[in-house]
Amino acid sequence: MDQIMTTNFENWSLKVDEDNIHWLTLDRSDSNVNSLNESVLREFDQILNSLSQNNQVKALIIRSGKKTGFIVGADIAQFKTIVSAEEATNLIRKGQEIFNKLERLQFPTIAMIEGFCLGGGLELALACRFRIAEDSSKTRLGLPEVKLGIHPGWGGTVRLPNLIGALAAMDLILSGRNVTAKSAKKMGLVHEAVPLRLLEKAARSYALNPPANLKKNYLHEMTNLEFVRPVLGRLFQYQLNKKVSPKHYPSPFAVVENWVENGVKIPQAMDKEAESIGKMLVTDTSRNLVRVFFLQEQLKSQGKGVDFKPKHVHVIGAGVMGGDIAGWCAVRGFKVTLQDQAPKLIGNAIKRSYELATKQLKEKHLIQEVMDRLLPDPTGLGIKSADIIIEAITEKLQAKQELFAMLEQEAKPDAILATNTSTIPLEEINQVLQNPERLIGIHFFNPVPKMPLVEIVKGKDTDKSIIEKAIVFVRKIDKLPLPVKSSPGFLVNRILLPYMLEAVALLEEGIQGPIIDKAAVDFGMPMGPVELADTVGLDICLAALEKLSDTTGVKVPTKLKEYVARGELGRKTGKGFYQYKKGKVVKPKITSKDTIAPDITDRLVLRLLNEAVACLREGIVDNADLLDTGCIFGFGFPPFRGGPITYARKQGGELLLKQLQELESRYGDRFAADEGWNSEVA
Ligand code: NAI
Repeated sequence: MDQIMTTNFENWSLKVDEDNIHWLTLDRSDSNVNSLNESVLREFDQILNSLSQNNQVKALIIRSGKKTGFIVGADIAQFKTIVSAEEATNLIRKGQEIFNKLERLQFPTIAMIEGFCLGGGLELALACRFRIAEDSSKTRLGLPEVKLGIHPGWGGTVRLPNLIGALAAMDLILSGRNVTAKSAKKMGLVHEAVPLRLLEKAARSYALNPPANLKKNYLHEMTNLEFVRPVLGRLFQYQLNKKVSPKHYPSPFAVVENWVENGVKIPQAMDKEAESIGKMLVTDTSRNLVRVFFLQEQLKSQGKGVDFKPKHVHVIGAGVMGGDIAGWCAVRGFKVTLQDQAPKLIGNAIKRSYELATKQLKEKHLIQEVMDRLLPDPTGLGIKSADIIIEAITEKLQAKQELFAMLEQEAKPDAILATNTSTIPLEEINQVLQNPERLIGIHFFNPVPKMPLVEIVKGKDTDKSIIEKAIVFVRKIDKLPLPVKSSPGFLVNRILLPYMLEAVALLEEGIQGPIIDKAAVDFGMPMGPVELADTVGLDICLAALEKLSDTTGVKVPTKLKEYVARGELGRKTGKGFYQYKKGKVVKPKITSKDTIAPDITDRLVLRLLNEAVACLREGIVDNADLLDTGCIFGFGFPPFRGGPITYARKQGGELLLKQLQELESRYGDRFAADEGWNSEVA
């Protein structure tokens, strides 16, 4: 491109080439990603004003100056300062006006998209006449706003259904999922998906020879007709209701309602969109989800600046956990050696890893690279050269001690020695070590590929630099590291346990499983505790309980022992608390007569909250934010409630303490309030 003139703004730069094509590049000065904040939009508005009065402009191409992608969306940090729905709506309207201005420009406008094009970024692109995207695995387009408890507000809920029809548009908006450039092309969201080397050329060609009449898709248009909308609206609502409750997540329901009422008519539909998102932005749901977003970012940002570049992971134990840990690390780019005393189990684990790689990476050569990196190592040749060694053998103290005593001798002196134990205190395992400060816990959750959180277990002796390195490693395999104190059950299992035990107590009283599960799901848990126990495996639950009963005195329920003795272990054996057909749960139907006594929800939730308070008081994690984040990403505590401590504080300590006292008087001292309530929840 021969450039003849460049004007630089704080966040944007505008280059004019010999054909009078205007190349407008966004490169936010104060951030390494492009998000849309007040100053970016103000400048954009000024640029559009000046361009609209310039009749020399041949075309406008909007592009990003960042390696991280086009535009990731609105700047979420700005949401925090909004105090009222009216203020939010007014702010949104300003953004809408700017995008409308872009849409009204008389010359061709083209969004040239590389990498992330999300939320407000996609809405900006939708206000352009053409969209050209790079066809690569990095390019993702979507409107993820519902994940923050809001919905698109800069015309996305209007322009997208207008462009690609209501069916495809609602699929994207209501789920918040994103799509590749190829899929976007297929659904008509972008006009071209081309490799990077052709991207500029394609944008240029649209600028110089814009296609005159783009073919209309009548089927898409039909979906937005007035008499079709109520019918489709009911379908969308029905599908939404199967996944979420409008009480917990009102925003996708609002999108459907607005669209049924106003369709894609401008300006009514845009007006309604602004008014509706204004209300959503100040709901507790949205406030909590935005907070959780930042907490997650906080966990992700740990380990920055620590100089540790591990390349080789050695995993010992190729069972349920070790096998999956090895596969996950190989998929994430590590060289992995996998050891087990039973070679057959290494074979099984490698087969599972192949399936994981296929699912995650899809392309043959990438899958092959993973399999080349994952080496069966029955005799432990990898121990000598590994940067990090993860032990995931059977949960037996003596076996683990023997193994670590050997590892300390054989491994590189600076290799990280980590255990995946769920229940054995690090201070017991490390007794056999000459340098007990070398041992750390890296506690994964089952199933490894699905669970985002990993507890970094700090023993009393664990060296600080080892904790930092373990955090770096966990970030490198794309998991969320949560530093926790070594103490029975650590954080996640400890808080989950009383809640699960209460579910078993309810079962023992004769309350039906589906009723207990419904109470938890209505509260917002992703799965009820009875089904969760079956999914984890009743034998695993029993083993963990028995181990913990040694250290914490917790009573193991007879009912659980009976199921395990009969070999009814849950989902994996086809029978546990529930029956399973082809891996799917078959629950006894509950009728409308089977009402859920509020007592059930209170009993489940209060035991969980009480344990959370105890963990905070004992300093299992450093603060309430970490506790909340751990529970949300560790076992799915409803994110819209902000985590156990946020939820307890919102409800009020006094009220919850009173409820605990009532439950204690009826059910005994398992409901005795922890002494931390006054200090931690006030
Ligand atoms: P598993 O029984 O499926 O696998 C253990 C493997 O270790 C077996 O393949 C066995 O052959 C091998 N093994 C035993 N002793 C060995 C030795 N000395 N040298 C080499 N290989 C040896 O057990 P699972 O469930 O994978 O658990 C492993 C560890 O992970 C335990 O410490 C457990 O507490 C922990 N964990 C388990 C979770 C679960 O849900 N299963 C969740 C989180 C942690």
